[in-house]
Amino acid sequence: MEANGGQRATRTFLAADEAATRNLGRRLARVLRAGDVVALAGDLGTGKTTLTKAIAEGLGIRREVTSPTFTIIKEYDGGRLPLYHFDVYRLTDEADMEELGYEEYFYGSGVTVVEWADKISGLLPEESIFLRLSYGSGEFERNYEVVGPEERISRVRGD
Ligand SMILES: Nc1ncnc2c1ncn2[C@@H]1O[C@H](COP(=O)(O)OP(=O)(O)OP(=O)(O)O)[C@@H](O)[C@H]1O
Ligand SMILES: [Mg+2]
Repeated sequence: MEANGGQRATRTFLAADEAATRNLGRRLARVLRAGDVVALAGDLGTGKTTLTKAIAEGLGIRREVTSPTFTIIKEYDGGRLPLYHFDVYRLTDEADMEELGYEEYFYGSGVTVVEWADKISGLLPEESIFLRLSYGSGEFERNYEVVGPEERISRVRGD
């Protein structure tokens, strides 16, 4: 495989309800590898934390994942890979990420998930899996646009 991760691809998913979002998170978890960064963007309440909880579950993490709003970063061990869960909503600038030592996580031996990733877009690895969540037409409907390395995201099972 090329060092830069090779071809990129885009896929879209539609979740009719929260259970469908959870399924997507669990299926995404199966294709993740050490050093992956999953960059989540999308309005308040679209389901970034819900999706992250399902990714954790898919990695076999039993501890409950809660939003790291005030700590910015929370780490979960005990699964197939460690999970580093960032929520950068409250960060005022990218320099704060340096202070948190973000590189140790992004380029570490676990999977990093970042909520509000568009706030730190300059720091995200090019090979990140970008996942944009948006509201659908019904109250429980959500759309997902996933952009990432083709060999990886093509293996996320659809419905
Ligand atoms: N299809 C769906 N997928 C995910 N969540 C859904 C769906 N339908 C309804 N919901 C509800 O939407 C809310 C999503 O909240 P969640 O905390 O996951 O969003 P978030 O994007 O992390 O929000 P924030 O921007 O505050 O971090 C939950 O209350 C959940 O029950
Ligand atoms: Mg959240």
